[in-house]
Amino acid sequence: MQNRGEPDERRRGRALGSGLGSGLGSGLGSALRSALGRRLAGRVTATTAALALAGTAVVMMGQGRSGTTLEAAADGAGAQTTAPNSATIQILGISQGFSPKVTPVAKGGTLTIVNDDPDHFTHSITSNAIGPSGKPLFDVVVKPGATRSVPISTLGGGTYTYVCRFHGQMKGTLVIDGPPDGQISNVPKFQQPLVQPPRLHGRHIRIVMRKAKVRVLPHGPRTRMLTFGGSFPGPTIVRRTGRDTKVTFVNHLPRKDGSVTIHQHGGHQRSKDDGQPAAYLIKHGRKRTYDFPLRDGGTPLPAALRFYHDHRMDKTARNNWFGLQGMFLTTDPRERRLGLPKRKYDIPLAVTDRTFRKNNSLTNPFRRMAREMSGAMANDPSMSGMARAAKPGMETVGQQVLVNGRFAPYKRVRPGRYRLQILNSSLFSSYDFALSNGRPFTQIGTGSGLLPHPVVRPDILLGPAQRADVVVDFRGLAGTKVLLSSIPRTDGSPNGTGSREAALMQFRVRGKPAPKARIPFSLASIRHLHVPRKTAKVWRFGLSKDRRGSYWSINGKRFNPRRVDHKVALGSTERWKLVNTSPFTHFVHLHEELWRTLKRDGHAPPPWERGYEDTWRLDPGESVVVAARFTDYTGKFMIHCHMLDHEDDGMMATFQVVERKH
Ligand code: C2O
Ligand code: CU
Repeated sequence: MQNRGEPDERRRGRALGSGLGSGLGSGLGSALRSALGRRLAGRVTATTAALALAGTAVVMMGQGRSGTTLEAAADGAGAQTTAPNSATIQILGISQGFSPKVTPVAKGGTLTIVNDDPDHFTHSITSNAIGPSGKPLFDVVVKPGATRSVPISTLGGGTYTYVCRFHGQMKGTLVIDGPPDGQISNVPKFQQPLVQPPRLHGRHIRIVMRKAKVRVLPHGPRTRMLTFGGSFPGPTIVRRTGRDTKVTFVNHLPRKDGSVTIHQHGGHQRSKDDGQPAAYLIKHGRKRTYDFPLRDGGTPLPAALRFYHDHRMDKTARNNWFGLQGMFLTTDPRERRLGLPKRKYDIPLAVTDRTFRKNNSLTNPFRRMAREMSGAMANDPSMSGMARAAKPGMETVGQQVLVNGRFAPYKRVRPGRYRLQILNSSLFSSYDFALSNGRPFTQIGTGSGLLPHPVVRPDILLGPAQRADVVVDFRGLAGTKVLLSSIPRTDGSPNGTGSREAALMQFRVRGKPAPKARIPFSLASIRHLHVPRKTAKVWRFGLSKDRRGSYWSINGKRFNPRRVDHKVALGSTERWKLVNTSPFTHFVHLHEELWRTLKRDGHAPPPWERGYEDTWRLDPGESVVVAARFTDYTGKFMIHCHMLDHEDDGMMATFQVVERKH
């Protein structure tokens, strides 16, 4: 294994590894940050992290050139002393994480993990390194107060970083002292091509929801899912913005899946076409036609990548997990003169995570949750008031990340510029997107339209339901491979949720240059809005408690579809403040209007939050001030956390647009 001399190899390592070493001993930290740095031997004598071709990155242990950083690392990890045969890691909670941060253990030894989180959250210990199937080498969930053993006895010598997969900011390092056993890698093999779901363009579209087997993993049986039209994600609806679009959804799902309701996320439509969680449902065997005019106040909505998904009360997470999500792409012919990459150089990507059983079927985290909620925890008096508090660790996080419904796909691209419209359609996970060669993205839009001006960003953090419209530049890279990865969150928010670390897909650059494309300085103008000084409504996102336990809440309340939390006059413009009072990050989604971000934490928002927006990150203690004009439609609309487990747990509220009184 040698460096095959790709020019961007080293920068690539830096991009992937940045932010990784925080909290580690400095020697180890810097080694980890070094190229491909998560793989290094635990001893001075058995070293080397050799660089590999982008996308096939593996590191051979035990031979080759010795790296100075590795020796430093070995010193830092205390390689001079013999590692113990057994070790214990204690979980101290979201902010303090794991203790110790670096745990040495002898090869063949045992590892125990104890969850002592005083806040009674469930946590996991999940290796960043993956096995040949793409699954983590170890992934053990530990409920509050519990002790579990971690299966490490078969792992070879080397350094393994791990995280809590529910709280990616909790990180640690396990150093197995002993001879290495082949390679430690957290880059999967890219064995299947990227696909695009079928596209539907008509003014009246019909989509039948049904159970179907779809190809997700590269080998073995296909996966049974609940689908829109037989594919996962569902068909991509592609429409010119401003054109009236009717979509008839037919519910041919198994009867036990019950009624569903479909929301076009980011759209502007009548209340009854907005995917009400408890009304206008589509019963088993029935259908419903939704009217999406794709206009706001008579003007076409800004073109963007939005999406459609089930929104059924209490079951949104479950129904999305099993497959009920699809992309909704609007286009605008007026955009053409901008000269952005178009047609096959414009690629929508839906990124989401799932966990699979050995037979490639999806796990059912919701059955487990139901059992646990009604079983032991609910009945055990010592757990009273904790049963629901334990939920913040039972979120649906998948072990494997899929792009357009496939695990670890590759895509052939030409040297040139490509537009990627990226959607995080995960239920709970966040990704900090970065390219492995260190080249930045040029962000040109959000999921609600183009930004006023492009913004160059080395990495882009997207939480559930957030989108980013970016241009990537493969010019001059013919013959190389570039990974689209998620790196540990780089913006240094100490209590904010971490992003997962994974290589998501691979671009193989080859062939003739792609047609020229431009990124003009002026992209879009955001319509002027006269916003009143006064804040009309404050929404507080918190963790509340009642007799039944604790729950995720808005202004202290659980969602109740019969309650209206705020009324707004049609035609008015309001300023709202969103505040996170809980110890956990939330991604807050406002339905229906073209929202603008006025302030983040009292300051002007960063340049990438100066377009239209519908979903905001709120780290603990953060506040965001937003405004919109309430146009066209009266009725009820939702505001909620788009971490779907939180939404289902009650972190949702209703605002109602009412006729203006004269
Ligand atoms: Cu994407 Cu209310 O949802
Ligand atoms: Cu949340």
